[in-house]
Amino acid sequence: MSTIQDKVVIITGASSGIGEATAKDLTSKGAKLVLAARREDRLKALHEEILKSGGQAIYKVTDVTSHEQMEELAEYALKEYGKIDVLVNNAGVMPQAFLFNKKVDEWDKMIDVNIKGVLYAIAAVLPSMRERKSGHIINLSSVAGHNVYPGGTVYCGTKHAVRAISEGLRQEEAMSGTNIRVTNVSPGAVSSELLTTTTDPEMKAGLDEFYKTAIDAESIARTIAFAIEQPSDVAINEMIIRPTVQMG
Ligand SMILES: NC(=O)c1ccc[n+]([C@@H]2O[C@H](COP(=O)([O-])OP(=O)(O)OC[C@H]3O[C@@H](n4cnc5c(N)ncnc54)[C@H](OP(=O)(O)O)[C@@H]3O)[C@@H](O)[C@H]2O)c1
Repeated sequence: MSTIQDKVVIITGASSGIGEATAKDLTSKGAKLVLAARREDRLKALHEEILKSGGQAIYKVTDVTSHEQMEELAEYALKEYGKIDVLVNNAGVMPQAFLFNKKVDEWDKMIDVNIKGVLYAIAAVLPSMRERKSGHIINLSSVAGHNVYPGGTVYCGTKHAVRAISEGLRQEEAMSGTNIRVTNVSPGAVSSELLTTTTDPEMKAGLDEFYKTAIDAESIARTIAFAIEQPSDVAINEMIIRPTVQMG
């Protein structure tokens, strides 16, 4: 039996891409899923598919930029399933453009979703995990959390922040002996809906070209499952997963 069996896993951004692929992979391994995103129709369809295949899941429409909604999501998970074993902190946006284009609204959005959203989710699950002295927080950073490139400045800044938050959280929990594992996942180009969040035509053209060799979202889902299914005294702290042909 997989060690994922009966683990309660919250997935933010479960309505598409990596989040959706992770939900499908983890339900096949017996996890109890708590699906969150803003698009209810997509969550509902995924929820129905999981139940039809004999899996267990609940869903809640949640905007990760709302601290209150994130707290309500964790409360819902605890009420329905009694515990939270894993958070897949995955929701993210990538509206890329050169700084001189002054897309300040998009900067705000990236900071709100990619940084504050990640922090709010950690805040929502940490108390109950600490109380149980057990838990696993998996944050989606990116190779953009390791590199910086023109046009990706703000996005890279948010993904560097996610990596710093992962490492800080890891050290704090290790120091406190809470048995909470932290995994930072840094994908390269992955086929998903992420590119649709870039509106700048020049950036979009370059990204469309770059993403021609993108790997599928299931590749990342498999690595997330690998991190979860390690014995509880083993923490996979950092994973970079690129298409084999990706340079940077
Ligand atoms: N695809 C790649 O090449 C790649 C590479 C490196 C890292 N990543 C990271 O992987 C993560 C998942 O991205 P993806 O590629 O799977 O893209 P995606 O298909 O666009 O999925 C993004 C998810 O985030 C959710 N989301 C966005 N804003 C939200 C908000 N305010 N509140 C709640 N949910 C929100 C979306 O759901 P709703 O719109 O329904 O809310 C969607 O489910 C992101 O953090 C991304 O930065 C992706």
